[in-house]
Amino acid sequence: MPDDEKDEFELQNEKIRARMDRIGRKIMIMSGKGGVGKTTVTVNLANELADMGCTVGVLDTDLHGPNVAKMFGVEGATLSSADGVSFLPVEVRPNLKVISLSFALEDQDAPVIWRGSMKMGAIRQFLGDCEWGDLDYLLIDTPPGTGDEQLTVCQAIPELTGTVIVTTPQDVAVLDARKSVNFSRKMGVAIIGVIENMSGLVCPHCGKEIPIFGKGGGRRMCSDMHVPFLGEIPMEMDLREAEDEGKDWSHVGASHPSRKALYDIANEINNGTACSTGRDTSFLGTPGCKPSACASCTANCPSRKK
Ligand SMILES: Nc1ncnc2c1ncn2[C@@H]1O[C@H](COP(=O)(O)OP(=O)(O)OP(=O)(O)O)[C@@H](O)[C@H]1O
Ligand SMILES: [Mg+2]
Repeated sequence: MPDDEKDEFELQNEKIRARMDRIGRKIMIMSGKGGVGKTTVTVNLANELADMGCTVGVLDTDLHGPNVAKMFGVEGATLSSADGVSFLPVEVRPNLKVISLSFALEDQDAPVIWRGSMKMGAIRQFLGDCEWGDLDYLLIDTPPGTGDEQLTVCQAIPELTGTVIVTTPQDVAVLDARKSVNFSRKMGVAIIGVIENMSGLVCPHCGKEIPIFGKGGGRRMCSDMHVPFLGEIPMEMDLREAEDEGKDWSHVGASHPSRKALYDIANEINNGTACSTGRDTSFLGTPGCKPSACASCTANCPSRKK
């Protein structure tokens, strides 16, 4: 890399560091296989955490198929800038903001045909130039796999809190999810836990469960690979409809089993009690702590803001 480019890269690293220093927990949501529900999980955990009073940012790094804006019901929003250099995330609710390449695309049907270096540049720009301000959480949605996007996030944010790995129960999805576990280990990033999504279909007529993709594959993988299991989210037609319509699912009652599952998972993560496997969870902070209260907290905890 020529010297001037190296300087520019280092300058951008400093910008990223300064922005990330103002954010409590930075969590990357990933999966081996596509379509298993990463974006659904990201959007719903964000809504649940926002309901719990946390300030939350969502970064969509799925540059080829950005769906976050649609699921939040803010598609069509455009990026704005206060100073002509940095840009502001789009506000979903006062304590929930989102940034996605889809806000910069004039034609939503136009394919984004980018090589790895361009994707790396875009993600680094999102991290360095987006005015998040102080956040308790930054949830980072990714495309499937362990490629450019995941690598860029891990390298640009060395202090990433951890990964949440989403899988469906069947063997072919679990096989790929194992790669996400090993990716996190290779990158030295903590695994907050694995979520088994589409874990049985609740029949809208009789309420009984049909194991379309099987059941328990995610949990079995966790015990086999010694990683924490965060929970099972059943398939629900109403949830899919809510995502298509950009509706906030966190406001429906707990009679919806997928909503209850998403709430429980968000609660576990927020209280630092995720990973009930006896594993050291100190990287998540003191149980019960709220990162926005860090400044006045005296506990000796790694997530404490200086
Ligand atoms: N538990 C669920 N019940 C019903 N529908 C679901 C559930 N989880 C996800 N879906 C639906 O499945 C589809 C795929 O989900 P989603 O887009 O979140 O997957 P993804 O892993 O982000 O996909 P990609 O790999 O393309 O980014 C969406 O239409 C979503 O609404
Ligand atoms: Mg997605």
